[in-house]
Amino acid sequence: MIGAAALARIDELAKTGPGEDRRSDMTNHDETEAPVAADAGRELKAATRAAWALGDYHRFAKETIWELGEVLVRACGISADQRVLDVAAGTGNAAIRAAEAGAEAVASDLAPENFEAGRREAEAHGVELEWVEADAEALPFADGEFDVVTSSFGAIFAPDHQAVADEMLRVCRPGGTIGMLNFTPEGLISDFFGALAPYMPPPPPGALPPPMWGSEEHLRELLGGRVESLEMTRRHYVETATSPHDYRELFKQTFGPVVGIYASLADEPERAAALDRDFLEFATRTNSGSPEGPAEYRYEYLLVVARKRAS
Ligand SMILES: C[S@@+](CC[C@H](N)C(=O)[O-])C[C@H]1O[C@@H](n2cnc3c(N)ncnc32)[C@H](O)[C@@H]1O
Repeated sequence: MIGAAALARIDELAKTGPGEDRRSDMTNHDETEAPVAADAGRELKAATRAAWALGDYHRFAKETIWELGEVLVRACGISADQRVLDVAAGTGNAAIRAAEAGAEAVASDLAPENFEAGRREAEAHGVELEWVEADAEALPFADGEFDVVTSSFGAIFAPDHQAVADEMLRVCRPGGTIGMLNFTPEGLISDFFGALAPYMPPPPPGALPPPMWGSEEHLRELLGGRVESLEMTRRHYVETATSPHDYRELFKQTFGPVVGIYASLADEPERAAALDRDFLEFATRTNSGSPEGPAEYRYEYLLVVARKRAS
């Protein structure tokens, strides 16, 4: 089980007030509930895809996590002659770097609306890759098709963690590598989700929160005895903005799920203003930069490299 302290932190951050609990699909952690029902699951997929297609994900990625795709590709030792699948690839943060390393790379994601920006970025890097619409919980690839399967802050967003882990392992060849970058529950991401949670609809039953993927214990449980080695290293990276106000505006303009939350409040100007205040409070409180600026946000993540058993 994930550490109790980490879960308590997610829970505490997600609650909106006494007697009210509007945890988002990013924050519900009741593992005892039934798996997501089929209809609710389909609706959730459609809503998730629509949310990630909003805004300008590529601009967001370039201003925040873009340097980390290369970190993941290096950690996995990706090289020429390998076939690599990047799951929940967005605009190709890791997949483009895998292609630059000479690999035959496939970028897959639930939201193909972002592929065009990815294609342009790949062209700028002088590489070509394949772009495939795919749900991380049901990958449309054959068993053992890839030497390396990666996900950079992506597969963590699918609600059924076990299904994702099973699929990433299934499409990886025996002896192959699984690599992930996952936010940790103790890190800044829980404050971020906590600020947004009161403004999001309640999650479907059984959905698990993304930061659980940053728990070493949760990873061990998900992968079970199917890997012969599992390296997990806690690291940090820093996002910067001119000011806390500008940091909030970056999310409002470019980060699909946040753009979607604001759109859902279009007829509720008071709640939209409250979200503005809560987001600014989060961005001001967690700014670790100097008073003269720029604003800095230090996120902890888990770098995961696992080797699938050879047989
Ligand atoms: C924070 S972005 C990360 C994208 C990219 N890996 C990167 O490093 O920039 C999360 C991505 O997960 C994708 N995603 C969310 N749920 C998914 C699912 N169930 N299956 C596949 N992709 C999903 C979103 O469309 C989005 O592109």
